[in-house]
Order: sequence, then C-alpha cells, then structure tokens
Amino acid sequence: MSKEIVLTGIKPTGKVHLGNYIGAIKPALQMAGTGSCSALYFIADYHGLNFIQDRKEFNELTYGIAATWLALGLDPERVIFYRQSDVPEIFELQWILSCLTPKGLMNRAHAYKAIHEQNMQAGADADSGVNMGLFTYPVLMAADILLFQSGKVPVGKDQIQHVEIARDIAEAFNRNYGDTFRLPDYIAPEHTAVIPGLDGRKMSKSYNNTIPLFEPADNLKKLISRIKTDSTPPHEPKDPDTSNIFLLYQEFATPGQVQDFRSRYLSGISWGEAKQELFQVVNSALEEPRKRYNDLMASREQIDAILDAGARKARAMAAPVLEQVRYRIGRYR
Ligand code: TRP
Repeated sequence: MSKEIVLTGIKPTGKVHLGNYIGAIKPALQMAGTGSCSALYFIADYHGLNFIQDRKEFNELTYGIAATWLALGLDPERVIFYRQSDVPEIFELQWILSCLTPKGLMNRAHAYKAIHEQNMQAGADADSGVNMGLFTYPVLMAADILLFQSGKVPVGKDQIQHVEIARDIAEAFNRNYGDTFRLPDYIAPEHTAVIPGLDGRKMSKSYNNTIPLFEPADNLKKLISRIKTDSTPPHEPKDPDTSNIFLLYQEFATPGQVQDFRSRYLSGISWGEAKQELFQVVNSALEEPRKRYNDLMASREQIDAILDAGARKARAMAAPVLEQVRYRIGRYR
C-alpha cells in the first residue's frame, strides 16, 4: 500500500516569528520527519499574489519563506518541497474545478465573506478591494490538494473551511465524472498553546508584538528583554505556569533545563535573570538555523536547485492524475 499523502501549502509572508515556528513549522517538520507518510510541502506563491503585488517584495518573500523552512531542517530528500508556480498542472486543474464550483460556495468562504461584510457595513461597494484571486482562492487551494490525491492536509484553524471546500469540490467532480479524487481531511491543532508576544497577547504580526526568528543575536536579546512581566520583586518566588518567559523557554529547552528553570522560579529568580536564560536557550537553538538562513538567502541558486528538484518530483506525481482528469471530462482522442 502506498503511503498516505500529507500536503500543505506555505504562504509567503513577512518575517517569520517565534509563534509561527512553534505553532506551525515545528509540528509540520516533526510530522514529515517520522517517515510514516509522503510529505509534500510547497510555497504557495501564486496564492500570495492576490495580496503581494510589488514584484521585489513578492520575490523576496518567496525566497525568504523557502530559506526559512530549509534552514529549520526541512529535508528535501524526505519532503517534496516545491514552488506552486513551478507546477503548471495545478493551474489547469484549477480551471477545470472552477467550472464545477458553484459561485455561491465562494460567496460563503470566510475570507471573502469577511471583506464583503465589512464593505456593507462601511456603506462601500460590496466587492470593493476584492480581486478574483481572492474570490477564487479556495479553488486554487482545492487544485493544490486534489492534484496529489492528498489524504491529510495540516492547516491552521483558519484554513479548515478551505479544506472542506476542497472536499466539496472533489465530491462534485466524482459525482459527475465517476470516482477520481480522494477526499482530503484536514489536520488542525486542537489545543495549541497560545504563544505570547512581547506584550503578553498572542504573538501576531497584526499586534506588532513578535520576536522574529532570524533576528541577529543582539536584537534578539533586546526584544526578549522587552517581554512584559509583572512587578513581583526580584527575590520572591514566581509562578512558572503563568509566566510567558517560562512558556517560551519550554519550547526551546531540554526537559532537564526546564526542570531546573522551574525550581529557580520557585526559589525566586529575578525577571532579568529569567530573560537572560530565555535568551540563551533561544539563541543557541536558533544560531545554526540563522546562519543557514543567511547563507541560503545569499546564494539563491541553492534554493532554486532544491525547489526545481522538488517541482520535478511533484510534476511526475501530478501528471497521471491530470491525465486521468482530462480523460474523465472528455478530453481524449
Ligand atoms: N491557504 C493556506 C494559508 O493561508 C496556504 C495554502 C495554499 C494551503 N494551498 C494550500 C494549505 C493547500 C494547505 C493545502 O495558510
């Protein structure tokens, strides 16, 4: 029996931060590392095009996100790692699927619906600021998923609906043309710890409270020193389980270090010392990846070579599926 296909797309976004790493990248790399599935991870660059329309930025963000995953240990021998736009089969399938997708289904997709509602409330044109890329985003995502007969799709909570839409579209195709696509399931984190940002709220670009992953060491230190703490005096015992510093520490330290750190909290560590310790573990975990990231960004042909090889593998998997789809819709000789 062939292994289950696990596929996920990575949107090119700005600086990746600790929250992205802990919440999404680390678990995805762990899942790929077990070897129990065939993992396909790709840079969803053409999904990004609907909101990044500056050519330099588009280019930088695409390489940046690819370098990030490689630097953090994505092994291209184990994971088929490619750039979406290098696989033209996806876009042909997208068109075919579009023709089987009721427009109403897209009207209900939450990203579009949210903008639409905002516009209505503001008394603006209902579709102001909406391009067709945004509107049909879920069809492209369905093509990404279905083209590889993916079984499992790891996503954040906000993407569950899109995987369900992919499933609906697959069902519509199968109903009309006979069983063709495997129906995908999502895997979403059930209760991921909320990774706190500098101000204690969830670490998020939109709150401007992030610690970027590949910050130079001195900046990293400065940022960590800005993490908000309470006013417990230096020598008083502190509760590790309500401490943001402790929470972050756990993500980077060994169990032994965590034990140790816990007892220092109980015997009264100062916040200054706690931050210093946090900096040490985070920095030593990220030192090597940071260097690899900088090396990769300085020689992009290395990134290209890896993504090109990934795209060749992905296209080889996609070709027979697309061939079958074409046959099913009546495009045969
Ligand atoms: N839409 C996803 C996001 O915003 C990225 C993505 C694109 C994706 N294609 C995908 C995720 C296919 C899973 C499967 O994060």
